[in-house]
Amino acid sequence: MPEPIATRKEQHIDLCASQDVEATDGGTGFAQLSFCPRTLPELDWHELDTRATLCGRSFAAPFIISGMTFGVERGAIINRNLARCAAHHNIPMGVGSQRIALENPELGRTNNPRLHAPDIFLLANLGISHLQRDLCMRAVEMIEADALAIHLNVMQELIQPEGSRNFRGVLQQLSELAQNFPVPIIVKEVGFGIDVQTATRLFENGVAALDVGGQGGTSWSWVEGLRSADDETRQLARAFRNWGIPTAYNTAVLREALPHCPLLATGGVRDGLTAAKALALGADMVGLGLPLLKAALVSDVEAIKVMDGFIRGLKVTMLSTGNRKLATLPASLCLDAPYRDRFGQLMHGRSKQ
Ligand SMILES: Cc1cc2nc3c(=O)[nH]c(=O)nc-3n(C[C@H](O)[C@H](O)[C@H](O)COP(=O)(O)O)c2cc1C
Repeated sequence: MPEPIATRKEQHIDLCASQDVEATDGGTGFAQLSFCPRTLPELDWHELDTRATLCGRSFAAPFIISGMTFGVERGAIINRNLARCAAHHNIPMGVGSQRIALENPELGRTNNPRLHAPDIFLLANLGISHLQRDLCMRAVEMIEADALAIHLNVMQELIQPEGSRNFRGVLQQLSELAQNFPVPIIVKEVGFGIDVQTATRLFENGVAALDVGGQGGTSWSWVEGLRSADDETRQLARAFRNWGIPTAYNTAVLREALPHCPLLATGGVRDGLTAAKALALGADMVGLGLPLLKAALVSDVEAIKVMDGFIRGLKVTMLSTGNRKLATLPASLCLDAPYRDRFGQLMHGRSKQ
């Protein structure tokens, strides 16, 4: 007998807050990249420009609070703290799946971030089993959302014994929805990445932005393994703990394949330097999940502080590479250790002397 979804969602929060739920191989790919420092940058900290845009709105920093909770008791506090963080930093915020709240309007009311931050840019959230237009409209109206995020999580469903098994027709349904919906639709993965073929179909069919939701951060196959009491499910989850397209690589390939697609990079970004790498690879904004969940479980002040740390790390990277604007960051990014090739040449020259 499968557990009710509200219980499952509560278990997700508990596991993410207390266990090691991330991929084990550091597989985001960001570690393979470095920035070339500028020893004496002609810059003042106060002139650094971190502004970013999404769906026609301008934000103070290129970060987005990834959708995590909605429709559970604790969601009211978590979303309040995250909403205050979003308002304080002028960044967009997503909510978690609104599936439970569609059946329980009272939870929809208490979990609504608008109660605490009426003007933030807010993303509604539903999964691929709820692509009916009327459900999507209700999710948007429930929180007066500015956009709707649809999450893709095929691998998580496959690990859940009670999860969906039939994904036929989803791409078609998503395309129909995106072409005929009053607010922008953003399609996001939750940690397994989006391949180029799927991304291209989605963007060509009217999806306004894509969030790569790549591998290397929170592993939703492993969370399902931890949640399960069944040995077989746990074995399966362990095998697929590191499944997916690494966030760094996914960002780079989607930027190359879809140069005009607004792109968010989420999945395993744990500091401002890594966020700077994601932006240099072509992301327009960087999404944060787990670090902000943990902070929001403490307080609004903690969420604001954690976000402050990300912004500060990004600005340190910008200044120490001589980049006043985010748009010029790509030229400072290099693969692997920046001096390795040159070092090799120098050492080779020496051995010949
Ligand atoms: C507790 C928790 C619940 C989540 N629930 C949702 C959800 O309901 N809908 C969704 O689109 N993503 C959900 N996510 C996924 C995040 O939005 C994000 O894509 C993922 O955690 C990867 O980012 P991270 O490595 O920074 O955590 C959830 C994440 C966490 C930690």
